[in-house]
Amino acid sequence: MSFAVVKPKLKHVLGIETSCDETGVAIYKDGKGIISEALHSQIEIHAEYGGVVPELASRDHIRKLNPLVKTCLNQSGLTLNDLDAVAFTQGPGLAGALLTGAAFAKSLAWQLDIPSIGINHLEAHLLSALLEHEVQFPFLGLLISGGHTLLVKANSMGSYKVLGQTVDDAIGESFDKTAKLMGLGYPGGASLSKLAKTGDIKRFSFTRPMTHKAKFSLNFSFSGLKTEVRNTYLKYGENEKANIAKAFEQACVDTLVIKVEHALKNKDIKQLVVAGGVAANQPIRQALAILCKGLGIKLAIPSQRLCTDNGEMVAYAGWLHLQQSKSVRHTKNLNFDVFPRWSLEDINT
Ligand code: KG4
Ligand code: ZN
Repeated sequence: MSFAVVKPKLKHVLGIETSCDETGVAIYKDGKGIISEALHSQIEIHAEYGGVVPELASRDHIRKLNPLVKTCLNQSGLTLNDLDAVAFTQGPGLAGALLTGAAFAKSLAWQLDIPSIGINHLEAHLLSALLEHEVQFPFLGLLISGGHTLLVKANSMGSYKVLGQTVDDAIGESFDKTAKLMGLGYPGGASLSKLAKTGDIKRFSFTRPMTHKAKFSLNFSFSGLKTEVRNTYLKYGENEKANIAKAFEQACVDTLVIKVEHALKNKDIKQLVVAGGVAANQPIRQALAILCKGLGIKLAIPSQRLCTDNGEMVAYAGWLHLQQSKSVRHTKNLNFDVFPRWSLEDINT
């Protein structure tokens, strides 16, 4: 996809991400791409609670935004006056955390007399694939993170059809809760996957939720799987931990593959984009790569840095939207409105 018409005033777009527990800032430069980025992860703050504490997240975003913007400006040799627009994550996410980014971005834009634009975090994840890969619309998007699990048909920028989503836990949440109950720390997705490498695939087999023919759905459900793991772990204990981790991970891999395959075959789509923190999982990446190869489908997975929450994807999505006059949603008003729940289908409404 290319945007040949360049609006001279939109040379530098600052992106601000504060939807959850990562403060991300970046600058996208027209014709060049991302020229600077800075990220602060709050994992250490939340680790002792075993999950994100919303109030602590908001307070830390407030502390970090200013220094991170300064870092980005220094890295790129720019000053505030070189910025042409500020993009910020407007939802979905934690209300307080979103508000910190919205207030910061809108105040800055107001002070500099430049537009600000609210970005849908899920769309930013999907569009981040375009930063590194050639991606053509329409494509199938699989978003797998700590907060989201969804399959979406991306028709064009701003136009998405949700084909399926989780009815309970997100897949990353399920990795984290499973890891936690086996004493693997927080967030435990990566540790669980590491442990699973040493497990025996034949020892246990868990359900592939909502994949049976009679009850097939493109929606996902991971809470039952987590309970299966808990019961197995309580019954067999520490010695079987690696085998249980392996069976859990394999159930997740197979569930994703079955649903993605179904969507690709039935929706006449030629490309798959995978995004979100769980896209860092090697067995998931490998299984999807094999599936796509077999089906002749192009696969785009952003690098690990871009898979997790970051400011680059917000700066880039902001720039893309601002290029399209039709979908420009920039505003100079100072209403700090955020959308903690914001479906991809409602982006342009
Ligand atoms: O996208 P992300 O950084 O944050 C959200 O917006 O949720 O995703 C973080 C999630 C966590 O649940 C983490 O455990 C999971 O991604 N994760 C993994 C792996 N690396 C990160 N899950 C499974 N395998 C991994 N290698
Ligand atoms: Zn995210």
